[in-house]
Amino acid sequence: MSIRPADSTSNPPPGSTSEATSEATSEATSEATSEATSEATSEATSEVSSEVSSEVSSEVSSEVSSEVSSEVSSEVSSEVSSNPTPNLDIREWIRIGTLEEIDKNGPMVVKGIVVFQHEGSLYAVENRCPHMGFPLHLGSVCDGVLTCHWHHARFDVCSGGTLDPWADDVPAHAIAVQNGIVYANPRPKQPKNLDWHLHRLREGLEQNLSLIIAKSVVALVNAGVAPARIAEVGIDFGTSERSAGWGPGLTILAANLNVIAKLDTYGQILALVQGLVHVARDSAGRPKRHMLQPLPATEFGTPRLQEWYRRSVEVRDIDGAERVLLTVLGGDASDADVADMMIVAVTDHFYLDGGHTLDFHNKAFEALAAIRPELRPQVLSSLIPGLGNPTRSEELQNWQTPVDLVSPLFAAFRELENQLGRISPATLASGTSDSPTDRNASSIDGSASSIEGSASIMPSQTSPLLTDRQTRTDAEKIVDVLLGDDPGVIVETLTALLTSGVDPVHLSGLVALAAAKRIVHFHTQNDFGDWIAVLHTFTNAHAVHERLKQSQNPLATRAIYHVAMRIYRDRFLNIPSAALPKSDAADRAGYSTDLRQLLALTDKQQQVAEAATWVAHYIDTGQPMGPLWNTLGHLLLREDAEFHSFQMLEAAIKEHEDWEKSTRSIAKDAMRTLVLAATRYLAAHAPTARELPQVARIAWRLARGEKLFAE
Ligand code: FES
Repeated sequence: MSIRPADSTSNPPPGSTSEATSEATSEATSEATSEATSEATSEATSEVSSEVSSEVSSEVSSEVSSEVSSEVSSEVSSEVSSNPTPNLDIREWIRIGTLEEIDKNGPMVVKGIVVFQHEGSLYAVENRCPHMGFPLHLGSVCDGVLTCHWHHARFDVCSGGTLDPWADDVPAHAIAVQNGIVYANPRPKQPKNLDWHLHRLREGLEQNLSLIIAKSVVALVNAGVAPARIAEVGIDFGTSERSAGWGPGLTILAANLNVIAKLDTYGQILALVQGLVHVARDSAGRPKRHMLQPLPATEFGTPRLQEWYRRSVEVRDIDGAERVLLTVLGGDASDADVADMMIVAVTDHFYLDGGHTLDFHNKAFEALAAIRPELRPQVLSSLIPGLGNPTRSEELQNWQTPVDLVSPLFAAFRELENQLGRISPATLASGTSDSPTDRNASSIDGSASSIEGSASIMPSQTSPLLTDRQTRTDAEKIVDVLLGDDPGVIVETLTALLTSGVDPVHLSGLVALAAAKRIVHFHTQNDFGDWIAVLHTFTNAHAVHERLKQSQNPLATRAIYHVAMRIYRDRFLNIPSAALPKSDAADRAGYSTDLRQLLALTDKQQQVAEAATWVAHYIDTGQPMGPLWNTLGHLLLREDAEFHSFQMLEAAIKEHEDWEKSTRSIAKDAMRTLVLAATRYLAAHAPTARELPQVARIAWRLARGEKLFAE
């Protein structure tokens, strides 16, 4: 029987002359072998002859063992970074065996490469199914298709290309036959370099293949690619492919990227995989997004365009808003101009879409730091579809009755205008004839008594803060007011603080702290679904805090009032109030400060109080925060967490970072509150089936060369 390499014209062994190689690949008969030998240069002949020596075998063995076999963790790095087509000497090829041996024994495996004889040709592929590592020599070849027997992935035995994209292509290797001996090139025909992995990641996103995404992330991280570069692939994909625009998946990805420096390497992989898989899921089965074009060259400047944008958002004209936004981005507007324009438009109404609209805006702006500047229009305009029909909380019955929370805010905004003198009457949200919100609020005429049956919330008592000049900076008292049960006092206090010069950024940080306290005191007797209510308030408060750091427009401060009213509305979720954990309780329970104990605790459901007690003990005994954040990250990322949990951890970490810089006496309590809030929320939502983390773990173990099929 005549056997030949399947790719006799490709990948000649560089150690031989091309002529010798050509001849060698046509051999199999002793005559052809003889010709090849005689036509080779003496140098090539010498190389081939010496190649069979034990010395060379040893060299090949050592090389191959580092490239093909089990040390895949280092292999991935070397594959990505090394030249994929070096002038490899024939002596470095892998000696598989003789033609007779292959003919007699069937598939032969040497150094991680399997050689099949099929339909008179020889084929070599990596002996490891790219799906989950099953040995391919145990598979079968029929009609040119190699089938893995674990999950039945099919591969073109010649190229290694798969017919089942979820499995990935298997690396194929060139074959050479000389003197009746079969050699395989240890380097695959199609090396998996950096571009290949980035492309494969994009394909995984397009086809919503979580294992492909995970494998790509593992390979890229192992190769030293920056997390931001990896995340950019997902941000680019999600903002260009998803017709609904920026959504939860992109928010998870951006949030995870914000805190990725807190995580160890495996945690970073989990964070990227979780974010990217959620981006893929959000886009799966949805139509592609088609961006509009900016307006043709217009002579109108940024202020006019900003007004057009705001009016477009007001009337839910998303096409108009997108064209104007793209025009602004292409003009001479500063980054601050763009940010203010967009934030003002989404604070014209109260607490849009349960706070998600502002959350999404915040995360999109934060993501800009991680991506190429040319993606900026694509990313920011992806927010526009979400403005098509968001819930405007001032229109909701429960914002109007039994206590009218709407009219006092409009009154407060008018007062802000009067006191600050910085808010243009033409753009003030309420109380002016041409403001968008005023038109929308026609059913709410601005007077506290306009809504039948609603009680006035104007202060029934004077805010304690307003009677004490020294308390303007008393953070603890401000937080107390925010957690109080008198919305009139809350509104009056906010206005007094803002009009007397308190920094809105500082004030919004206190609002976020108050919202975190709602989570710390959320009692588990509440309906489980109510965790989301206090979560929404906190993450929105965090978004407000972050956006105000970037904004100079007084209109943006309206968001402080919106979220403050949410904190007020959540007050019954703290009745009864969960008690703060005490450190000595941990001592009594035998808790240590070994962070694995925290992970073990949260392997059981509803360990909210236990986990909080454990963490309080850890904090109060002065243990370092870095390992704790990393562990809380794993506590989150090892679960099939839903989007709010990712928001929770990120917001807690970022707010905590701000307090770390503070010398205020409240800072210590604030940091403790934020850690406990995150712990309680995450513990309440664990454990889950852990399906997605298992996918990431499979990819991680495959990259380390572990044999999943053997367990
Ligand atoms: S198909 Fe080969 S391991 Fe799954």
